[in-house]
Formats: sequence, C-alpha cells, structure tokens
Amino acid sequence: MKDRLFCKVLENIEIASNIYKIEIEKVEMLQNIKAGQFLNIKCDDALLLRRPISISYVETDRIGLVIRKSGKGTVVLCNKRKGEMLDVLGPLGNGFTIDEKEQRVIVIGGGIGTAPLLELVKRLEGKDVTVLLGYKTEPYLVNEFEEYVRDVKVATEDGSFGHKGYVTELFIEAIKENSAEMVYACGPEIMLKEVQRICSKYEVKSQISIEERMACGVGACLVCTCKVKAEEKGVKYVRTCKDGPVFSGEEVIF
Ligand code: FES
Repeated sequence: MKDRLFCKVLENIEIASNIYKIEIEKVEMLQNIKAGQFLNIKCDDALLLRRPISISYVETDRIGLVIRKSGKGTVVLCNKRKGEMLDVLGPLGNGFTIDEKEQRVIVIGGGIGTAPLLELVKRLEGKDVTVLLGYKTEPYLVNEFEEYVRDVKVATEDGSFGHKGYVTELFIEAIKENSAEMVYACGPEIMLKEVQRICSKYEVKSQISIEERMACGVGACLVCTCKVKAEEKGVKYVRTCKDGPVFSGEEVIF
C-alpha cells in the first residue's frame, strides 16, 4: 500500500478553456517517477473517492498535472489555490517502457490524453520522434511539446488549428513516412481503437495508456478492470490501475 503524501500547490493556471495546469511540490517520496504513471488525489472530505490524475511532467522540485475540469472532483481540484495542500497517493501504475533500440517512434495523444505524453517525450530525447496531438477545438500544451520535438503536428475537429479532422488521419500519414518501430498513445477509447487498428495493419508495436474509472488506485477494489488477450486466444481481466494504465496495444480488447 502506498503512503499518503501531502504536496503543496505551487501554481494553478487555466491554460485553455476548462483545462488547468497545476504544479505541486515534488516531495521526497515522489521520486523515480516513470512517464505514464499517475497520482490518486483526494479532492476534499465530502468526496469519498480520489481522482486518478496522470503526471504530465516532472521537474527537480515539482510535478505538473494537467486536469480537465469536468466533474465534481476535478472542479474541486481545479479550484485549488497556490499554497493549499493536496493529499496524494503515488506514483501509481506501470508507465511507458522505453527501449533504447527503438529509434523511430510516434507519440499520439487526444484531448486530455496529451498530458502524460509530455514527460514521455522528454525522455525520448535523441530518438526520431513525431508527435501528433488531437483536440476537438482549442489546443493546449503544443508549445511545451515543441520544446522537445521539432516534428509536432496538431489536428482539431473543427479546423480551428492545424489539420481539420481527426489526429488518426495524421497518424496514417506519419506511420507511412516514419516507418516507426514503436507507437505510444493516450486518449479517448475511440482514438485508441483506431490506433490499434492502424498499428495492426502496418505491423507496428504500440503501448497505449487507457482511461478507466478508478477508486482505490492500488489494485484492491477491482473497479477498474479491463479485458486483455490471454494465451491461446483467451481473455483475462486485469486492473487498469495496477497492471496498467499502460498496456501493449496488441493485448487490449476494447
Ligand atoms: Fe481499485 Fe483499480 S481502482 S483495483
């Protein structure tokens, strides 16, 4: 069981409509964080369940979280002010795996699923990386990705920025051009399903981070189970919080 940690909010700014970047103090126990891991954060005493929030980036003294204000819990979190304390469990989950041998990679994110990919991209330094970011309308974090990667392409569904359409359309072009050895993806299920289909067609390996409702965040309550392939065409149930949230793209069954 992870210990509860108390981290001070260092900054909280709205970076796009209803999207907040909250930086919290990186206390001593929050070391050895892998890209793709998350924190399970208590919102307030009235809300029983913690909210799983992916770690967007890690700096020497702070951790960046990017949160969409969309339900009771995230409204409370997004209203936290500088100086307030957050009660967190973490870092949780397994995170992304980086293989030194894989040089050409594509990173694809949709909506708030772009957030955990930022720390991943930082750690992919030295590789040939293409970043594809998709949003319904207003993009965010694009400048931050551009600090680490030159090849960043954006799609918006309404055409307000970059390619008009879905990010998976950019993905098909990129996978043909980049002949990628690994694809990393995080975003809504519909996007991940399409990434999985395209990767299978072009025979490219992938790691995908999936979103599931969670409660305990540490593998004890089984609220977050999802289906993956098992040996001999079988199916097994795994816990997104403990066995994931990052899985091999080939094994997830949507
Ligand atoms: Fe409880 Fe995953 S949230 S087992």
